[in-house]
Amino acid sequence: MIGFGSIGKGTLPLIERHFDYDKNRFTVIDPVDADRKLVDDRGYRFEKVEITRENYRDVLTPLLTEGEGQGFCVNLSVDTSSLDIMKLCRELGVLYIDTVVEPWLGFYFDHDAGMEARTNYALRETVRREKRKNRGGTTAVSCCGANPGMVSWFVKKALVDIATDTGLKFEEPTTRKDWAKLMKKVGVKGIHIAERDTQRAKKPKPMGVFWNTWSVEGFLSEGFQPAELGWGTHEMWKPKNARKHKKGCKAAIFLEQPGANTRVRTWCPTPGAQFGFLVTHNESISIADYFTVEKDGKAVYRPTCHYAYHPANDAVLSLHELFGAAGKIQEELHVLDESEIADGIDELGVLLYGHEKNAYWYGSQLSVEETRDLAPYQNATGLQVTSAVLAGMVWALENPEAGIVETDEMDYKRCLEIQMPYLGPVKGYYTDWTPLDDRPGFFPEDLDTDDPWQFRNILVR
Ligand SMILES: NC(=O)c1ccc[n+]([C@@H]2O[C@H](COP(=O)([O-])OP(=O)(O)OC[C@H]3O[C@@H](n4cnc5c(N)ncnc54)[C@H](O)[C@@H]3O)[C@@H](O)[C@H]2O)c1
Repeated sequence: MIGFGSIGKGTLPLIERHFDYDKNRFTVIDPVDADRKLVDDRGYRFEKVEITRENYRDVLTPLLTEGEGQGFCVNLSVDTSSLDIMKLCRELGVLYIDTVVEPWLGFYFDHDAGMEARTNYALRETVRREKRKNRGGTTAVSCCGANPGMVSWFVKKALVDIATDTGLKFEEPTTRKDWAKLMKKVGVKGIHIAERDTQRAKKPKPMGVFWNTWSVEGFLSEGFQPAELGWGTHEMWKPKNARKHKKGCKAAIFLEQPGANTRVRTWCPTPGAQFGFLVTHNESISIADYFTVEKDGKAVYRPTCHYAYHPANDAVLSLHELFGAAGKIQEELHVLDESEIADGIDELGVLLYGHEKNAYWYGSQLSVEETRDLAPYQNATGLQVTSAVLAGMVWALENPEAGIVETDEMDYKRCLEIQMPYLGPVKGYYTDWTPLDDRPGFFPEDLDTDDPWQFRNILVR
């Protein structure tokens, strides 16, 4: 296991609970050893090492090849290249899983790199290129957390629910092409990864610290990337600062502004209508790409897809402070652990909109209280991620020669079957809400009243 932060600590007990493995060879690597007691007490090895471009082969190869049987590399760190480590694992015949396409240290805050170079689109394309170049072989699961990850399984489940509830005659698809055709047929215009984290700290957040319910570093890295979204074929309008890509799958665009300071209108069951941040995520691109229907090499159907994230209130406040200070990051960064949280849920789901029944949210409403009963060392946000890692690991063990895969390409039913016991209530909700509701108010607005589900109505300007 590379990285023993909030997600690493939460994944450890799930691995112990669900797998048989050689205890003597379980090794955790992290340059920070603040929590090494958890590892030491269990009799595993802890290596206090920073994995770098220069040392990753030398450090990892002996650990992954020692003794008999197949190794498994679980990468839950920041600042280590998913692509390079994945390639090494496949060379060695070792299974691999991560939760983001992570680059080496320096990528996210490189002032000399152009905006396009800092997109998730660019990062994802590196992995897709490697997949095309080296098909098949040892399984490496890319981006298998909650989102990216689990939400791709939710999208398929939600789509099947809507198709069923609207009385459509259909067979459940088994290929990417047929999934895309089904989404077109159902008439889904777009998808929000719609999340509301209501977890509240026991103490109020002091000024000058950044609090979050998962990696602050991870959140800031993606928050400072350009806002990115899978770009649907129904869209009639684009913001002036929207940019396209010339190479690759071309399923997404980016805006010349940071995602964590880009607000969109969205909907979750608990708050109803709410603002979310359009933070770039791999799944915004992979889902839009996966569900694209092409004819003669041209996209004739694609859903818009993006994140619409209302983090914990303390994180919203932290962002407000940060952007108020022209993006100056607070001195102290802190992940609220389960013991510091009074109550709340992480309501994380997918909102499929623009179809016959308007919009449908399907997702997990896991509370911190329920999390405490289910697994140690984590809050609700963490368990949604770590249980997805667990599901991805099981799938990889059951499909060890599947090559490089994204979660859109995995068996969603099998993965959800494994993950479900850890997700609290998992439910679907139809809603009449649209981003045009109660608008305009006191002030004139630039709206498209012909189609409520245009990005023009969703983006807060
Ligand atoms: N897909 C998802 O749903 C999802 C959700 C949450 C987090 N994540 C990702 O999971 C990763 C871990 O998140 P987290 O909340 O545990 O973060 P964290 O900041 O709590 O932990 C990251 C750990 O990586 C370690 N680390 C830093 N540099 C390293 C290096 N060079 N080599 C080895 N370890 C190094 C840090 O010391 C830290 O312990 C991040 O990349 C994050 O973006 C994905």
